[in-house]
Amino acid sequence: MIPQDFIEEVLDRTDIVEIIEASVVLKKMGKNYQGLCPFHKEKTPSFTVSQDKGFYHCFGCNAHGGALKFLQEHLRMDFIPALEMLAERVGMKLPQQDEVLPRQENRERRVIYEILEHASKFYKEQLRTNSTRERAVEYLKGRGLSGHIARDFDLGYSVAKWDSLQTFMASSNFERVFLNNSGMLVQRDGSDHSYDRFRDRIMFPIKDLRGKVIAFGGRLIGDGKPKYLNSPETPVFQKGRELYGLYEARRRTPHLEKIIVVEGYMDVLALAQNGIPYAVATLGTATTDNHIERLFRFVSRIVFCFDGDEAGRKAAWKALDAVLPYLQDGRTVAFLFLPDEEDPDSLVRKEGKDGFEGRLSKCTSFTDFFYSHLESSLDMSTPEGKASLSKMAMPLVDQIPKGVFKQLMVNSLSSRVGLTSETLISASASYQKRKSRQSGPIPPSSIKNAVTLAKNDIPKSELGGQVDRAVSMLLKQPELADLFEPEEYSLLKADERLSLLSDLLDFIMHEDILSPEIIFKYFNDRPDFMRLQQLAKKEQLLDISQFADEFKGIVRLQLHRLEEESKKTDIENLLQRAIGTLSSEEKDLIRRYHNGHSLKNV
Ligand code: UTP
Ligand code: MN
Repeated sequence: MIPQDFIEEVLDRTDIVEIIEASVVLKKMGKNYQGLCPFHKEKTPSFTVSQDKGFYHCFGCNAHGGALKFLQEHLRMDFIPALEMLAERVGMKLPQQDEVLPRQENRERRVIYEILEHASKFYKEQLRTNSTRERAVEYLKGRGLSGHIARDFDLGYSVAKWDSLQTFMASSNFERVFLNNSGMLVQRDGSDHSYDRFRDRIMFPIKDLRGKVIAFGGRLIGDGKPKYLNSPETPVFQKGRELYGLYEARRRTPHLEKIIVVEGYMDVLALAQNGIPYAVATLGTATTDNHIERLFRFVSRIVFCFDGDEAGRKAAWKALDAVLPYLQDGRTVAFLFLPDEEDPDSLVRKEGKDGFEGRLSKCTSFTDFFYSHLESSLDMSTPEGKASLSKMAMPLVDQIPKGVFKQLMVNSLSSRVGLTSETLISASASYQKRKSRQSGPIPPSSIKNAVTLAKNDIPKSELGGQVDRAVSMLLKQPELADLFEPEEYSLLKADERLSLLSDLLDFIMHEDILSPEIIFKYFNDRPDFMRLQQLAKKEQLLDISQFADEFKGIVRLQLHRLEEESKKTDIENLLQRAIGTLSSEEKDLIRRYHNGHSLKNV
């Protein structure tokens, strides 16, 4: 039922090492990772994981597969829940039954991908062989771009004719309707004639994370308007989601630390040309939640580049506002404001890699921009000014997920306005209560559908390991507790082995200010206090930005297990009660249907 390309996309975006590392200790050995095989007993490691290829292999027992198979075989998850968990980690949603595209639409997407790939090849070819190619080559040279960069980004050239792409496509038998829907042609009003959308332009293919071409941008070579043209939205392209250059940045730098967000295609190219291959551009839109979520999946630091003028600062503030709910501890955001009349392209060409990186290292921190922006309209020497600052700032600070960074923001606000953190927090408490949860609650019904364990008798050791992980993640990042509704957690109380986890969750849900110290103080007379301390110290293998997904996975698994167990008990009890009324043949029948489970008194 689930389209193959959805599964492929999930697997392409998944880092198998992160998945396996959650339950197996892995060491990097050359290109691959190695550890003790979880599928058979061994003392020396023969289990290897290939990050590039996305699979694991055990030379001892021949266990072999990808991330999905690992979850199925090792955690004994069913296919759908395993896929859903992986999809969620990478920000994708499983298509719902009724949403699964009808065949025709699926086919349309596939054909459009093909058309775009074809077009990209054609434009590249034109840049190499067309009789007017010099025009394009000179333009690129004039902008300081080498053939090397042109190749890396698959740049192309659309000639100044109305039908050049169309003529080329005619030889390939693509159905007319798909060509029209690919965005590459423009239909003339009221007729079925159409012409090439992109003419006399340098062509920038926009790629998805797998490197598939999903749209184009085009920069006019001559004078005229519009200077830049983008593909319209099509079945394979939504503007507000995509970032130009992200695929290329990830491919060139496998372990990206930070990403710079700029405005233009040319900025991305000029930066890459000058040794800064980690810039991406939004496609003529403001920065969206979608962009931020996607970027934080790959890096823990984002630097936004904006003009230093009024408009640039306004756009920067918008980005700051969008980013607040994503600022878990461990993630940072900064702003690079450019001098007048410069863009990253002109600047990096003038100042080179070192100059530009020098600016990056001195850029404006989140906190600086936050306060300088708010204070710019206030007189901070007056009580009124201070009061206004706290009134404006607190609702924003509230949107930051709980953690050390949030606490620091509250502290710095408190020193600016001369109020204690406690006063600030209680003043904004009424706002807190009204605020809807950041990540949105997960409805109980979806828990049921999401996780169907093939067997729900998890071995003790594994249960312990998972729950311990959940506890230590919570200690590092208490706002994980917000991922579920309090009522959902109440089910956890049914299993005493989960008492540390569920008490910790209880505590976190009812406290406003949290720090390990406060938690320790509250828990220090418990018999399992030592364990709590050890878990707080434990190094996490995943980086903090991945916690949410793993935490969700573990809790869902436990909830599902408990739900199944309670169902089983209910059924047994009902059967016990009904049994008195049955004939002996009926009892036999029940025994047969119910084989495996003991029914007392039957
Ligand atoms: P700019 O106008 O700032 O251009 O557009 P630039 O990047 O400095 O271009 P050059 O240096 O003159 O070549 C920045 C971005 O805004 C979008 C494009 O995405 C562009 O990269 N844009 C701009 C359009 O979509 N259409 C336009 O007509 C202009
Ligand atoms: Mn420019």
